Amino acid sequence: MAAPSTQKQYRLERSGSSGPFTLKLVDAPVRAPGAHEVLVRVHAASLNRRDIFLIKGQYPVGDRRSLVPLSDGAGEVVEVGPQVTRFKVGDRVSAIFFQKWLSGRPAPDTPGTALGGQVDGMLQQYATLNEQGLVALPKSLSYEEGATLPCAGVTAWNGLVTRGHMRRGDYVLLEGTGGVSVFGLQFAVAAGAKPIITSSSDEKLSRARALGAVGVVNYKKHPKWEEQVREITGGAGVQQVLEVGGTDTLPHALASLGSGAHVALIGGLSSFGGNIPVMQLMGSNATVSGIYVGSRENFEAMNAFIEQHHVKPVVDKVFELKDAQAAFDTMESDRFFGKIVIRL
Ligand SMILES: NC(=O)c1ccc[n+]([C@@H]2O[C@H](COP(=O)([O-])OP(=O)(O)OC[C@H]3O[C@@H](n4cnc5c(N)ncnc54)[C@H](OP(=O)(O)O)[C@@H]3O)[C@@H](O)[C@H]2O)c1
Repeated sequence: MAAPSTQKQYRLERSGSSGPFTLKLVDAPVRAPGAHEVLVRVHAASLNRRDIFLIKGQYPVGDRRSLVPLSDGAGEVVEVGPQVTRFKVGDRVSAIFFQKWLSGRPAPDTPGTALGGQVDGMLQQYATLNEQGLVALPKSLSYEEGATLPCAGVTAWNGLVTRGHMRRGDYVLLEGTGGVSVFGLQFAVAAGAKPIITSSSDEKLSRARALGAVGVVNYKKHPKWEEQVREITGGAGVQQVLEVGGTDTLPHALASLGSGAHVALIGGLSSFGGNIPVMQLMGSNATVSGIYVGSRENFEAMNAFIEQHHVKPVVDKVFELKDAQAAFDTMESDRFFGKIVIRL
């Protein structure tokens, strides 16, 4: 079936080149694919904390005044350009976060190729993308599930597997029950590791236990939560950390480390920052990695693992196209577990 000439598209708009944006639903043209491009009918898109920072004007997007938000989306290829070799009409695909980071080390211009930031993103019914900027969706996943993978999934994967070299039996510390942490929990369970997760909510901790967490700690009830984490590990400390909390959590996470641990520095839910306790890290022979999502190669390795281990992303809420603002509001409220999706 031929693609229509117009579509429903969400844009973030602001009057100046800095400050907060407003979310608007518009009718926009559908752009036909060029020689190496494919046209994707986007069926679902997913939110990340980045999108909340962005709408508030707290995430760098240069001086852009108008952009299509959300890095994460999944859909079906409906048209291909004449030189396209990687995909055909009917393929189920997901876009990669950095459109030009395919493998190996990132290039200096990689950050400028992120969807839903410097480059228009996935909160639209049709996206025209270079064929290199897509991966095949795992067959076992729906579009809603597949839409959750590009940012949170790949980040958790790289933190634990590509950079952390997580092993069976490792204690894995996860902070809060948002997107990155719940993927971390699921990957750890699938790999035979032992996830310990924190949350402000006992109800969310019960859900985490049901997914396979071996230890849970309410960080509101236990402000020095490293004591509980250490106790769960029999005093030895953890081997892996996905550090997403930032300034408030970093000191507690570092106090939870066992010998030879790996810390993936990922986020700043409380604010980005913290000091480097050189003696503490050196004394425990720790490895610290900065993680900024990852490449297409990383995404494909993760997808193979997801298929092999039957990992099902946790989609907490699915909103319809007209309710995108409510999806942003829900994300900001923290009243969710795992991922939030918008159906398009
Ligand atoms: N470097 C990268 O490539 C990369 C990629 C993805 C995300 N990030 C960053 O990583 C962080 C997490 O992103 P996300 O999308 O997974 O977030 P998210 O889904 O929005 O996570 C929200 C959850 O985080 C928990 N949380 C909030 N404040 C907390 C705190 N002070 N201490 C512990 N937990 C807290 C809460 O869990 P409970 O309700 O259970 O308490 C909340 O529900 C963000 O800072 C994001 O910008 C970075």
